[in-house]
Amino acid sequence: MAKPSLGPVLFSQKQIASRVYTLGCQITDDYRKMTFGAGQVTLVGVMKGSIMFLADLAREIELDVQIELVRAESYHGFASTGTVAFSGLAHLNLTGRHVLVVEDIIDSGLTVQQLLPHLQHTQPASLAVCTLLGGYRTSLGALQPDYVGFQLTEKAFVVGYGLDYNNQYRNLPDIRILKDAEE
Ligand code: IMP
Ligand code: MG
Repeated sequence: MAKPSLGPVLFSQKQIASRVYTLGCQITDDYRKMTFGAGQVTLVGVMKGSIMFLADLAREIELDVQIELVRAESYHGFASTGTVAFSGLAHLNLTGRHVLVVEDIIDSGLTVQQLLPHLQHTQPASLAVCTLLGGYRTSLGALQPDYVGFQLTEKAFVVGYGLDYNNQYRNLPDIRILKDAEE
């Protein structure tokens, strides 16, 4: 397999910042209503891919925000291994909290589908999902997140703004397509 090279910018730093601002406003409004003015939300970031999005989104939410982190690993290169290993769940106490899972990309939905029961187990007051990107398979009817930054309508492997290929490219400010992803 050829070493993948960076393809075109799909979402620029500026487009991302603007969309994250809008999502933050929407989440602020929704959770203010849901908590009858108390205005709180606990963001559960799924590492490592969501870290940039989590950091930016948290600062656009004008509520009492708490941050928790879990780690999920399923990908090797371009493909999901089919099993998801989680860490950081053992000491997570979300009882009575309004929990919003923050993901980088939801594609098949496998990661989130396996994570949600663990979080539900701690009896949160509410549980919802926010993803920066809806993957191509999400557009075909896989799990529907509550908040989606951008929806991918074509099959593409993307990197940057936290998203990686074998732990590379996370620090790119834009989201770009990685070439040769189909091999
Ligand atoms: P799912 O389990 O198929 O929904 O995939 C979700 C996880 O796979 C994400 O949290 C990412 O870590 C990884 N992933 C899926 N598609 C991509 C991609 O295009 N680029 C980088 N990571 C991806
Ligand atoms: Mg991930």
